[in-house]
Amino acid sequence: MCGIVGYIGNKKASPILINGLLRLEYRGYDSAGISTIEKEGLSLMKDKGRVKNLYNIEGIDNLEGTIGIAHTRWATHGKPSKENSHPHTDNSKTFSVVHNGIIENYNEIRKFLSEKGYSFYSQTDTEVIPNLVHYYYTQDVQTDNLKLLRAVKNACFDLKGSFAIEIICKDYPDNMIVVRKDSPLVIGKGDGENYISSDIPAILSFTRNFYFLEDLEFVVLSRNDITFYDRNLNPIKKETKTIEWNASSSEKDGYEDFMLKEIYEQPTAIRETVGAKFSEDSKCEFEELNFSKEYLESLNKIYIIACGTAMHAGLAGKNAIEKLCKIPTEVDIASEFRYRNPIIDNKTLCIFISQSGETADTIAALKLSKEKGAKTLAITNVIGSSITREADYSIYTHAGPEIAVASTKAYTSQVVLLVVLAIYFAEILGLENSYITSLKKEILELPKKIEEALKNSEIVKDFSKKVYQEKDMFFLGRGIDETVAKEGSLKLKEISYIHSESYPAGELKHGPIALIENGVTVISIMTDSNLVEKTVSNIQEVITRGAKTLVITNQNIDVNQFDMVIQIPDTNPLVSPILSIIPLQLFSYYISKEKGLDVDKPRNLAKSVTVE
Ligand code: AGP
Ligand code: GLU
Repeated sequence: MCGIVGYIGNKKASPILINGLLRLEYRGYDSAGISTIEKEGLSLMKDKGRVKNLYNIEGIDNLEGTIGIAHTRWATHGKPSKENSHPHTDNSKTFSVVHNGIIENYNEIRKFLSEKGYSFYSQTDTEVIPNLVHYYYTQDVQTDNLKLLRAVKNACFDLKGSFAIEIICKDYPDNMIVVRKDSPLVIGKGDGENYISSDIPAILSFTRNFYFLEDLEFVVLSRNDITFYDRNLNPIKKETKTIEWNASSSEKDGYEDFMLKEIYEQPTAIRETVGAKFSEDSKCEFEELNFSKEYLESLNKIYIIACGTAMHAGLAGKNAIEKLCKIPTEVDIASEFRYRNPIIDNKTLCIFISQSGETADTIAALKLSKEKGAKTLAITNVIGSSITREADYSIYTHAGPEIAVASTKAYTSQVVLLVVLAIYFAEILGLENSYITSLKKEILELPKKIEEALKNSEIVKDFSKKVYQEKDMFFLGRGIDETVAKEGSLKLKEISYIHSESYPAGELKHGPIALIENGVTVISIMTDSNLVEKTVSNIQEVITRGAKTLVITNQNIDVNQFDMVIQIPDTNPLVSPILSIIPLQLFSYYISKEKGLDVDKPRNLAKSVTVE
């Protein structure tokens, strides 16, 4: 969660570090801090609250050090407070450490260190790290230049859990050590200076050349060198990867918020994601994949596993795979899947969806599926992310960086990629037909149709103004529309803090209708001609009980029965979520704005959930 930044070079580190933290703010955090190496030793400036509060800390402007580490914390152990903020130091103030993740055995290590005379001043799990490094450092009688690295390595081998760690030491003023395990961290290579960050966009304006780390690879950075070591401290070679995103795609480009910008980027994101994978009369191609007909025929099940919005995209994917390929497909929430001993073997294909590619539960579910013999395929938006290094195959949504915590363009890109993947499988299986031909045509028309759907913005805004003070809302739909109801409801909760529920429309009378009373807002999605009449009847039932109704549809219905109807372009039901979610994204956005909330950084949420 939250973020790490590091700098080593020829400039003053502190402004670069704070700037980097500001760019990582979207990840969600509660405290911030930096530490640099100064002539007189380690500096340490930190506090709970926003990154910009760091500017008010006395002495921060006087820091001269050209090497430093920085952190935004999303508290897991110990409440947000100055003492619990990172960086943390050891008792002798020789080491400064920032850490993202969780040290699961910190109590055990704390006890061990306490018995050796160490004291602790915070409630964090992290504080054991600098002290454990200090312990190994002082135990080591050798004085060669790997002494610091050995201490870090020994400490890391005692840690259970997940961590991305940066360490500086006052005895080594020209070096920084970083290491990660199940937590994100990238290294940006500059010219006479090097950068560390949890995420690519934060340092994209400084460099396009990145190193990605495997678990427990240790890195020693200096101004001009970056040396990599494997877990046994043997030097290893790594290649940089060039990132194509440009820095301006991670800026707001004149939009008030990243979320609004990302909603409006969806036509481009879909165009880029579909790319050159097919044309109207050519077969689908994925250069990253080589599935054979025999393999696909041997499958008795496909699992799609993800969290949150990515899981909702998975529900649309299930519809497409089952319809086009006739392979039974189940969608599972990663945090449930990993602990329920799922039935998987080499006849199972497991597909993992993750915008960030860093979601801890999704990665754990992937590792489990591999252990059980399934082939694994990752769908992610971030090249080089952890999930791509674990999966047998990776394919990418090309949505560009998604900064707002509430996912929008990643969702629609995931839905389209899953449908294209289903077509690819169907064509290998020899199941191509005229339905697929017309579906391909519809996919190619999506960017234009999204632009059409976006034109409803003002109508949606007006409706938002009428209902923004509500306490509860309901989202209803049938079939594919129910998957969109789920995503619409999640979006509303995330950024407006309004309680909402989503239900299959036909399920309402089995209980939830008891909650419908005068003035309750019910939003329904109706895009499937086979189901529209059924859903209209369900909405009549709530109107009778006094509900206010908003309908999103591409069908020809009698609009007078509802309080507001938003017409979206017609398309194939398999890709209809890509159009029907647009008004719902805008709806949540405008409600959040009307309530004066922070749209991009909603309370309690983090962009990348790298802990369980
Ligand atoms: C989306 O709006 C949410 N913030 C959240 O549900 C998100 O989709 C989920 O945490 C999964 O993230 P991932 O796609 O990066 O794995
Ligand atoms: N577990 C650590 C803490 O609570 C680090 C949390 C984080 O990733 O920011 O301080």
